[in-house]
Amino acid sequence: MKVIVLGTAAGGGFPQWNCACPTCRNPDLQPRTQDGLAISADGKNWFLVNASPDLRSQILATPELHAGPGSRETPIRGVLLTDAELDHTLGLLLLREAETLQVHAPPAVLNALSRFRDITDRYHAWTWSPIPDELDGITIRTLAVSDKRPRYADDPAPGPWVVAYRFEHHGGSFVYAPCVAQLPEGFEQFAAGATYVLLDGTFHSADEMPGQTVMGHLPIATTIEQLDLPLAFTHLNNTNPVIDPNSPERAAVEKHGHLIPDDGTRWEI
Ligand code: MLT
Ligand code: MN
Ligand code: ZN
Repeated sequence: MKVIVLGTAAGGGFPQWNCACPTCRNPDLQPRTQDGLAISADGKNWFLVNASPDLRSQILATPELHAGPGSRETPIRGVLLTDAELDHTLGLLLLREAETLQVHAPPAVLNALSRFRDITDRYHAWTWSPIPDELDGITIRTLAVSDKRPRYADDPAPGPWVVAYRFEHHGGSFVYAPCVAQLPEGFEQFAAGATYVLLDGTFHSADEMPGQTVMGHLPIATTIEQLDLPLAFTHLNNTNPVIDPNSPERAAVEKHGHLIPDDGTRWEI
């Protein structure tokens, strides 16, 4: 199975357009686009996992996702969503030229995205359906993470609103959980044996940003103490010192053997 880490920043990206904090203004730090992945069993058919507002630039930066071989063909077959947050879903609107697309998400997320669907249906009738057990030879398992609803969604649809994914193919497995306020029960079992567990790395520590607790992201400093798993961190907020490769926080994460992948990181699993 091939995994491409398309983007690794939290909502707003890094640097964030309306933030002039020292990290955002540091010209030595590499920009990061908003969190999302592409996965493929065969390297020909690709599925996006989350669709960020940076999707167009992510596709252009990724030769595997470029159009072809036919003049109107694309290797992108569908999109799987972990949640309904705008940094994970706005990219759907950028795909409106796609004549066919499979969109898979938990029912509450599909319901919240009916507003998007009202728009995309005017362009092309995609299929919108719950998450299948298998997709193009990749086995998919999900774990309910939370009922955290995006601010724009005020409907009380029953959850889960956020899930984690486990993808398996030919004995290789990989876990993706970019939105975790609290480790859900059974997470360690769910992730056992995975080559990488790409986890919510929004914040490094519990007191990094005012209002952080209501955002609901478990800090890296806590997860690396709680989990004995091969972790990699994504959805990095611009306040997170691990963005700087020379920070002591980055060194500490790497000393534990965990990864802070850059955009464009490729894994063969
Ligand atoms: C989050 O990850 O908490 C949300 O994406 C926040 C947001 O950008 O609205
Ligand atoms: Mn987010
Ligand atoms: Zn900033």
